Amino acid sequence: MLVEMKKHLGAHLSTQTGLAVEKVIELLEIPKDISHGDLAFPCFQISKLQKKAPHIIAQELSKIKPPVGFIKSEAVGGYLNFFFEDHFWQKTVFGNYSKQQEDIGNINIGNNQIVVFDYSSPNVAKPMSIGHLRSTVIGESLNRIYKSCGFKTIAINYIGDWGVQFGKLAWSHINLKELLGLAKEHTDAITSKDFDKNYWNKLLQEASHQDTTTFNYLFAIYVIFHAVAQLEPKLEDYGREYFLKLEKRKSNQDELTLKIVSAWQKFIKISINEYEHVYKLLGTKHDLVRGESFYEDHLKEVILELEAKKLLKLSQGANIVDLEAFNMPPCLIQKSDGATLYATRDIAAAINRVSEFNATQLIYVVGAEQSLHFKQFFKVLELMGYEWVKNCHHVAFGLYRFKEGKMSTRRGNVILLEDVLARAIDLVKNIIKEKNPNLKNADQVANNVGVGAITFNDLMNDRQKNIDFDWDKILDFNGDTGPYVQYTHVRCCSVLSKYNKELISPEKLEVLTHPLEKNLINIMGRFEEVVKLSYEQLKPSWIAQYSLELAKAFNSFYYEIKILDGEQKLQGSRVFLVNCVRLTLLKALYLLGIRAPESM
Ligand code: ARG
Repeated sequence: MLVEMKKHLGAHLSTQTGLAVEKVIELLEIPKDISHGDLAFPCFQISKLQKKAPHIIAQELSKIKPPVGFIKSEAVGGYLNFFFEDHFWQKTVFGNYSKQQEDIGNINIGNNQIVVFDYSSPNVAKPMSIGHLRSTVIGESLNRIYKSCGFKTIAINYIGDWGVQFGKLAWSHINLKELLGLAKEHTDAITSKDFDKNYWNKLLQEASHQDTTTFNYLFAIYVIFHAVAQLEPKLEDYGREYFLKLEKRKSNQDELTLKIVSAWQKFIKISINEYEHVYKLLGTKHDLVRGESFYEDHLKEVILELEAKKLLKLSQGANIVDLEAFNMPPCLIQKSDGATLYATRDIAAAINRVSEFNATQLIYVVGAEQSLHFKQFFKVLELMGYEWVKNCHHVAFGLYRFKEGKMSTRRGNVILLEDVLARAIDLVKNIIKEKNPNLKNADQVANNVGVGAITFNDLMNDRQKNIDFDWDKILDFNGDTGPYVQYTHVRCCSVLSKYNKELISPEKLEVLTHPLEKNLINIMGRFEEVVKLSYEQLKPSWIAQYSLELAKAFNSFYYEIKILDGEQKLQGSRVFLVNCVRLTLLKALYLLGIRAPESM
């Protein structure tokens, strides 16, 4: 659409100016106001080349007949402004909406190449944090964007299900009486520093609960273990001992080992159940859950390969890859007791993902605080000779900053994803009760709007920046928010249902001439380009900002123009336009992972 118009104009101006077509296209701008045309060519760069004033060049060029699809050009200062031929342009844009609804905005860049995504990836036995929320929503959105750009994607949830903490948890679970005994014994010491008394008692209660299949139980023993271990260092030894048994489970299957394995598997199951609840709310879909432990069998190979490639170095009993030459601390591969590390598993996982799935890209959506880890293990892969590592991307993101006091911290000092989502949904419920008490499916809508508000607020920001989280802002139905875009979609739906007739066929469309209509059409003409930009920069924020722009433009149109008045054919054409806006908003929200209710 707009891309094609730019290409036409690029070819035309290239012959006139001698600049390369791509260069012209790069220079083209979209005028701020539609009365200045639809595309503008700034003459400043060629002015230097031709040693002529820009406004003179613009004037000379304006005398040449513009290419097909353009009605005229006008010189304004150093700019040459081009105007679309409305009939041609509107036919092109609207023609694009006759395809399958899902295909709107799609572009084929990927040619079915396979891309493996790694996002969300929370840690077993720990609740999901806000960091995991960011990874989940950014990852899900990028996954959808990649698909719409013609890639085949495989989304992996790389849960943290391996490491010495599982020895600790298994010990706590199997020796619960002993743990609780110690916990009670040390209650005074523990509550005098790190823990609020009520909170500590609640943890003890949850840990003593009959039902040991709940997430609360799991998290409680996790926290209690760590608190007690500070005063009883022998617990750390027990934890290590149990983890060693877990690591050796394939060669030694004594009774205790079996118990530990079954406890560990149970922890994983409980945690996945818990995450599923959040994913269902958010609309997150992974193709595979493959935790760190999945790659365990490949670790030996990695270590042998590193050895064979002379990359391993012994340092204080541990095996490392020295990265000093690259200004990085060493990458730890194996501790002196033989235990492997996070980086070792990531190296094994990357090699496996490329070979098993024939992946051409690996994308990791993980907070910026892990940037060094990614740089390190990418470097190790490079040193191992894996050229594909240049197609591995760490998609980093910043932190949330909460305004003091508004968020209760139910469990210690972390702000939990679940609590944030629950609060958003509650607030929307209240708004609905007040504004639209008879709404059908009110609970469903509140879920979709509450969650949409959180998701949109995350994705509208450049992911690399920190986000100031402000409850008053994210739910404002008139602000730059998810609910605003969702509400605009609802508005389109209600125009269509009031119209209550079949849409007119595209050949019968009348040319729309009002600037507010033309503006809307131009914005829709840019949709594919915006999707492409989001893909190229791995930034959903472009699509989120675009959806705000489209929603605002639609609302100006909606207030100004009586869509369902007037002569039949014009009415039909305007309703057709409304439907195109609806479909574009729907797809934009979809690409952000946000649901679009039809009433709210
Ligand atoms: N489980 C890790 C965490 O919660 C994130 C894992 C990210 N993915 C990866 N391949 N390292 O911090």
